[in-house]
Amino acid sequence: MLTGAGISADSGVPTFRGTDGLWKNFRAEDLATPEAFERDPRLVWEWYNWRRELIATKQPNSAHKAIVELERRSPNFWLITQNVDGLHRDAGSQKLSEIHGNIWKVRCTGCGLVENNRNVPIAILPSCADCGSLLRPHIVWFGESLFVEDLDCCSRALRQCDVLLVIGTSGVVHPAAGFASIAKQAGAFVAEVNLDPTPQSALVDISLQGRAKDLVPLLLDPA
Ligand code: APR
Repeated sequence: MLTGAGISADSGVPTFRGTDGLWKNFRAEDLATPEAFERDPRLVWEWYNWRRELIATKQPNSAHKAIVELERRSPNFWLITQNVDGLHRDAGSQKLSEIHGNIWKVRCTGCGLVENNRNVPIAILPSCADCGSLLRPHIVWFGESLFVEDLDCCSRALRQCDVLLVIGTSGVVHPAAGFASIAKQAGAFVAEVNLDPTPQSALVDISLQGRAKDLVPLLLDPA
């Protein structure tokens, strides 16, 4: 499975490109790039504090929970999420790759140590307990590449899967935007769940238009 911000929209987490999307109100280049962090780490941390504070009040919805049940039922299951909100983990997903990182993890810019940190707010500017260097969000920013272990894991899953379900992503940010095509070329049946058509809609075998929280649970009892 591949998920995007749309699956968390039903939990009240803002998407990025919808009408009230984050990138409508904030400039990604000022907040979600290594250059932005280099230029003004305080501003970037203030923005991530705002997102952490918001997400801390949100719960997994029925779509997140249905995916946990699908994982339990399916021997060969893997979830690739672009979301950093941690709601899949909170719902109980264990076989997953958080390919854009996790907003509840911090990474030391000095020694590279990655730790969970659920402090809301997090003290600005946070420093590493081990080496004293500045901590950054453990999130893949624009202009940064995904973690190799995640890319390898996604590549294996996409090439071996029989079915790929693409839920709640606008399909414009690579490499995830190319995942449906990889699975399709490997012979998988690809279905999409989204409120609107996406660039993948013409490629997939079936495109289901509706809210993830309404459609995804139907997979459990298709009758
Ligand atoms: N159910 C299903 N789909 C929904 C719902 C819903 N309730 N609400 C919104 N959507 C769909 C929108 O139609 C849109 O296609 O979810 C998609 C959200 O798209 P984006 O906001 O672009 O989020 P995403 O595709 O996850 O963005 C990918 O871009 O900014 C970066 O790193 C960030 O991970 C993010 C990446």
